[in-house]
Amino acid sequence: MTIRLIAAMARNGVIGKQGRLPWSIPEDSKHFLSAVEGGTCISGRRSYEELGRAIPGAGLHIVLSKQQDLTYPDAMVRPNLGDAMMAALESGRPIWMCGGADVYQRTFPIAEEFWATHIDADVEGDVYFPDGWQDHFQHEASRHSSSDANFRYDFVVYRRTP
Ligand SMILES: NC(=O)c1ccc[n+]([C@@H]2O[C@H](COP(=O)([O-])OP(=O)(O)OC[C@H]3O[C@@H](n4cnc5c(N)ncnc54)[C@H](OP(=O)(O)O)[C@@H]3O)[C@@H](O)[C@H]2O)c1
Repeated sequence: MTIRLIAAMARNGVIGKQGRLPWSIPEDSKHFLSAVEGGTCISGRRSYEELGRAIPGAGLHIVLSKQQDLTYPDAMVRPNLGDAMMAALESGRPIWMCGGADVYQRTFPIAEEFWATHIDADVEGDVYFPDGWQDHFQHEASRHSSSDANFRYDFVVYRRTP
């Protein structure tokens, strides 16, 4: 089963600010939703709460939380990454690691691809994409550049370093 990371990050590594995305880039939101459609998404609790619901179009959303008795009507909750991965593998769907920082960092060693949106700007924020990802994903498989009124950005697919 293919395991992929997907994240949008600013030039300075920022991915989040005060529990939310620090930008609104409609083309990137569309890119994200179309990538994960029908797949199994794994995210931390804060990322789920940012949306307030499961990722639209995902076949299954698994939320990581250590809080016992936490339930969501539209998502499965698991207490650690191992349990989440077991459930994700059972789903038989492509697996997407959707953040935040801890989820990304822990899955660097097991993901085959990293789908990055590189935003060409330094952005203020309080959550950063973990350092060291370049050691795991050195092969650039594709790159597509785009922009809107506020940002220039690149959609890049990296493959695992052989
Ligand atoms: N730019 C992007 O592509 C992108 C993607 C995703 C998120 N974000 C942004 O990033 C921020 C959220 O990320 P975050 O790193 O602060 O939080 P997060 O990873 O979404 O959530 C953190 C919480 O998830 C649970 N958790 C995480 N790892 C776990 C593990 N290994 N085992 C058990 N539970 C685990 C814990 O919940 P409990 O406290 O309940 O135990 C932890 O407090 C938001 O600002 C969001 O908008 C950006």
